[in-house]
Amino acid sequence: MARDLRSFLELLDARGLLARIDREVDPATEASRLMRELELRGLAGLFTRVRGAHASLAYNLIGSRETLALALDVDEAQIRNRFRAALEHRLEPIVVDDAPVQEVVEQGEQADLRRLPLVTHSEKDAGAYVTAGAVVTSDPVTGRRNVSINRMMLVRCARNRCSNDAAAATRRDPGQRRGNGPRSRGCRRSGAASARHARRRDVAACRRGRVRACGWARGEPMRLVRGVTVALDVPADAEIVIEGVIPAGVREPEGPFGDFLQFYVPEMANHRLRVTAITHRRDPIYQTMVAGSREDAQLLGLSREADVVAAIERNWADLVDARLGPTILGCAVSIRQRYPR
Ligand SMILES: Cc1cc2nc3c(=O)[nH]c(=O)nc-3n(C[C@H](O)[C@H](O)[C@H](O)COP(=O)(O)O)c2cc1C
Repeated sequence: MARDLRSFLELLDARGLLARIDREVDPATEASRLMRELELRGLAGLFTRVRGAHASLAYNLIGSRETLALALDVDEAQIRNRFRAALEHRLEPIVVDDAPVQEVVEQGEQADLRRLPLVTHSEKDAGAYVTAGAVVTSDPVTGRRNVSINRMMLVRCARNRCSNDAAAATRRDPGQRRGNGPRSRGCRRSGAASARHARRRDVAACRRGRVRACGWARGEPMRLVRGVTVALDVPADAEIVIEGVIPAGVREPEGPFGDFLQFYVPEMANHRLRVTAITHRRDPIYQTMVAGSREDAQLLGLSREADVVAAIERNWADLVDARLGPTILGCAVSIRQRYPR
């Protein structure tokens, strides 16, 4: 199994599944179109020269069953079983000192988000976004950690500020309807307790043992390292870590953003992340995903597919297969007929 992002890119390359784009690409006007082309061709992409950025840009790494199976080191037919097994098993992470992700540490004026290849994904997006960042948080009251993917918009012209969609499920902003109002991904979920804690204290957070599940799926513990400016353990073998604090009660406009199914989510008042440090490997690689792409649908679909299958099994049906797709809004289920008509 590939241990980290760069060894996975090597694996893709060896199988002819990676396109390298070495000419300069503009992240605001050009990258998004090229990324969609890569997706149509079923290729992962590595953009080595992104205008204004000191990192390469990687895209569509697990956009097909084939590449997802490669990442999990299983046959395609075993992807869902492996995922379900990972949810049921745990392998405790270890904390290390020798972290590749801290080869370069940028603080103060040096910590500049604008030097990362953040892509503007859709024409009417309010700015450039981090879309594939695993947001690692720690609950200030319970100390529990959470990891989830939440989009983060670079505040225009700001060196060190992002608007963050984390814990959005608990938004109660004036003018924003509940239930049937405009929906972002965040509006679908809970996480209320941690967000309340965040309001009282300082950092947003949620739940669940995803780091330990990852460790089990990898067959070795996740290596974590203590942040340079925050009391949080982050993946030691990551390419880039953006450290920061989410001040309680502070909101900033975020959006519009071209989200799932080609719809824009409107501007919302979201949490603000104040960046305190950026740490990275030498020659870092930054990964992005497109909302609603095959890659996105596949990641979101896999966990829901696992839920659907578990529910079917609980009802004793003789399941042949189930597959959500391509938009994850519907599910095709095949079961064996038990009684003849
Ligand atoms: C590519 C990608 C982007 C996502 N972006 C967001 C987002 O911007 N906001 C959000 O709330 N959830 C987003 N999600 C979904 C969450 O990561 C996912 O539902 C997670 O399980 C939420 O966990 P939590 O409720 O513990 O925070 C995204 C998922 C993927 C795969």
